[in-house]
Amino acid sequence: MICAMQIKALVIFAALKIQSAIFVQWVYRFSTKIPIYCLVQNDIMPSKQSILSKRSKFVYNVLEEDDRLAQKLSSEGKNILKLNRGDPPHYFPTPKYMVDAYIDALKAGKTGYSMNRGVPELRSEVAKRFKRLYGVDCDEDSAIITQGVSETIGFMNAALIDEGDRAILFKPYYTIYIPELGLYGGTALIEEYDEESGWQIDTDKLRKNIKSELKGAKKPKYIMLTNPNNPTGTVLSRNVLEEIVDIANEHEIFLISDEIYDEIVYNKAKFTSISQIAKGVPHAILNGASKGYDATGFRVGYILIPGNDKTSSEVRAKMEDFANARLCPNAPAQYAFAAGLANQKEHGKAIKHMVGEIEKRVNACTDEINKSEYLSTVRPNGAFYIFPKVRMEKLKIRSDRDFVDGLLREEHIQVTRGSGFGASGHIRLVALAEKEVLTSTIKRINKFCERHKA
Ligand SMILES: Cc1ncc(COP(=O)(O)O)c(C=O)c1O
Repeated sequence: MICAMQIKALVIFAALKIQSAIFVQWVYRFSTKIPIYCLVQNDIMPSKQSILSKRSKFVYNVLEEDDRLAQKLSSEGKNILKLNRGDPPHYFPTPKYMVDAYIDALKAGKTGYSMNRGVPELRSEVAKRFKRLYGVDCDEDSAIITQGVSETIGFMNAALIDEGDRAILFKPYYTIYIPELGLYGGTALIEEYDEESGWQIDTDKLRKNIKSELKGAKKPKYIMLTNPNNPTGTVLSRNVLEEIVDIANEHEIFLISDEIYDEIVYNKAKFTSISQIAKGVPHAILNGASKGYDATGFRVGYILIPGNDKTSSEVRAKMEDFANARLCPNAPAQYAFAAGLANQKEHGKAIKHMVGEIEKRVNACTDEINKSEYLSTVRPNGAFYIFPKVRMEKLKIRSDRDFVDGLLREEHIQVTRGSGFGASGHIRLVALAEKEVLTSTIKRINKFCERHKA
């Protein structure tokens, strides 16, 4: 038999369906005990009740919850070991030549607005870098300077994505790709990086999936690569990249390659930039000062679109429009980054030291993880992340979210849940701390697991 509560709920639902705010309020006033919250949430009401746009719901940070808990514990006097932020200057101070260049820019009075798309000195150094490292023929007009790669990702989606468009992303993905795509009305076609094959991309599967997706549907707007990868630390092989370029060429899909970790490669791995092999296939490279130049807080990144084909020219011009629609990125930081790019000798020393240390730290931590009864991981060859799988079946803990929460409360260790990158059952550790800190942390994680053994 239908009870009174259910009848009230049905009436409210009907009222919501016909979208009459007055009727809903009237019905609600006479059914005060029924929680309306869950109904209001389901996108029928917001435009009438909330000032926020529908699109704004895509902007969120799933990791915020853990940060809030960490802050609360800190304020209670707990010493939190933070292995969750990919922020190299906290472990390797930004090199003196970069800091001096910043101070020089300030002293030289370069404190006003610069050109919105970036100072010519920096754009020219970016072009020279690509010629030097990857043999790419381009000039300063191929590069647009942004407030980090983060801003570039927003520009790309704003420029390319219409409501209902799709883009190919690989899982696990860097957290912000998804909300940025959603914000502009796009949806992700998710391909998997294959853990069994060392997180490489199965290009046969990719080819097959694109073919079947194309039947009767619009082609995806772009393919987004992250190489080296955050969160897995994988460096994609040249063969895989060449296959992907072929696929992009065959189906005329724009390629975007986020190469922000291109200089942080070790364990004898060889990095290939898409710019080296995609000649003639429209593509964009994202990079900046944050990681290889150890200057995350400078907030300087860039997009390089070297091609002369119609698509590349169109996207490049639109990127300039986006840059011109706001004022410039941090001006002294742009001059400092330009000087850093030009100072190959100092940069060479700094990057060699940092990558050498990262290699030791990542390897020591990986070895310790792979001794664990509860964790296992593929050895990273790039960036500074480790992405172990948690053997949940051995634990009473049921999800990576609860694992991260428990570890934070009980051991005061902050790592990141894999589901933030689309891969539940994993956790991400930032392996920038000293070797001893990392290995003793894994031992503490093992003890935590022991206490929660199934
Ligand atoms: C793959 C990837 N892309 C982009 C970014 C953000 O870079 P930026 O500091 O230049 O905004 C990060 C930061 O961790 C990243 O891991």
